[in-house]
Amino acid sequence: MPYFTMGIDIGTTGARAIVIDETGRLAGAATDEYPLYTPRTMLLPTPPGDWWRATVQAIRGAIAAAGIAGDEVRGVGLTGQMHGLVLLDADGEVLRPAILWCDQRTQEQCNRITERVGRRRLIELTCNPALTGFTAPKVLWVRQHEPALYERARKMLLPKDYIRYKLSGTFAGEVSDASGTLLFDVGQRQWSVEMLQLLDVDPDLLPPIYESTVVSAAVSREAAAATGLKPGTPIVGGGGDQAAGGVGNSIVRPGLVSSTIGTSGVVFAFTERPWLDPQGRVHTFCHAVPGKWHVMGVTLGAGLSLRWFRDEFGQAERALGELTGVDPYVYLAQEAERAPAGAEGLIFLPYLMGERTPHLDSNARGVLFGLTGRHTRASVVRAIMEGVAYSLRDSLEILKEMGVPLGEVRYSGGGARSALWRQIQADVFGLPGVTLNVGEGPAYGAALLASVGTGAYVSVEEACDATLQVAERTEPDPAGVAAYETYYPIYRSLYAALKPAFDKVTVAGKID
Ligand code: XUL
Repeated sequence: MPYFTMGIDIGTTGARAIVIDETGRLAGAATDEYPLYTPRTMLLPTPPGDWWRATVQAIRGAIAAAGIAGDEVRGVGLTGQMHGLVLLDADGEVLRPAILWCDQRTQEQCNRITERVGRRRLIELTCNPALTGFTAPKVLWVRQHEPALYERARKMLLPKDYIRYKLSGTFAGEVSDASGTLLFDVGQRQWSVEMLQLLDVDPDLLPPIYESTVVSAAVSREAAAATGLKPGTPIVGGGGDQAAGGVGNSIVRPGLVSSTIGTSGVVFAFTERPWLDPQGRVHTFCHAVPGKWHVMGVTLGAGLSLRWFRDEFGQAERALGELTGVDPYVYLAQEAERAPAGAEGLIFLPYLMGERTPHLDSNARGVLFGLTGRHTRASVVRAIMEGVAYSLRDSLEILKEMGVPLGEVRYSGGGARSALWRQIQADVFGLPGVTLNVGEGPAYGAALLASVGTGAYVSVEEACDATLQVAERTEPDPAGVAAYETYYPIYRSLYAALKPAFDKVTVAGKID
């Protein structure tokens, strides 16, 4: 009888559930979307109830698509967007909309944390600097701006851990996602008592922490009735979307690195030990592989930049897509192919949500630089795709500077579905890249973690080796490489040149 497990990914704009069998075959999948609210620029709250409703639909959909009974699912792995803050009251009810990973309201709180703890000590304790997207600054923001509400908070959870609570009634977290809270001792893989004391955060607010493959909870009767899963189905720790994606891309040994273009863009490398950038430009987090770590650089507005273009200027592609059933991004990529590599000097800075790697600057803004009368819509779409790749190269350059071993690049996320975006990455990085036989990323990694945790495999490495293989290679094209060697340094120079203007426009626009 096949051994089915489920991976559930609580993404930024939708929940996805997949069912795999013990050979790694994708038996069924379903996605249910929710809106991304932007009440003011750079503020992104989501009601966690949206996630739960979508999760229930996605679980039911995936079980139906797999053509199995819910009680055939032997284990569940959770993953999702990292860093988001969910606050619950004494009855387990959500106190306010969750503040998401890309929300930029907390620069003042980050400055206070850095002052209070000291920049060096902060990196010693948590392996990372204070960044606006991380969870601890959000906690301080709520405490400062909504003190009465904060008083009522009894638990704080990350997005996927809220779904664990809804599925099981159990409060639990795991090491990779906890790494992005700035309250976690990444080196020791446990909550940092010193950080909690320094920031005066009650340890009782936090859930117990597990390794990613360890069973942390079981599906409750109530959740079983809602989802069709069997009561008592084990739920393993799971992982933040990047660490679980690392498993789903088989980044489980030194030398392997992935480049993921989802809403955010991430360059992710496996490490045997916590490997730090003294300047804190890349994040050092626990991996979902027990006892291992990873480093990653994050571009906040990667796929998000192209989605912005699609939504604001891609009416024709969207309308055509509705008629033909073809993804509008396919039409956009076809148009971008009409422009040459380098888009004739049109350069896009993808800082639509501020930027993490390498600038760590919530005031950074998106820029289309070098527009001339010759440029077309095709040049703009191509420039957006290239700008995202330049930004990912910034992360790769930092990893090289740190001495992290970098071999083959594995493309992942929605961006990996585009042959053009894969070629642009190969040319901008000047490195060959590959895609794998499964392009699911985080949900697949979470399902593999459930397979390991419930005994189908002895280790994450074994699970990845058994299920994931290289499918397709992209070699750098010398002409593209030459074009990007010319334009990348210009891209690099633009942030420094524009920094004073970014700061001024932030103040002028009164954007947090
Ligand atoms: C990682 C990060 C994003 C989110 C959303 O640090 O902020 O990748 O997890 O995908």
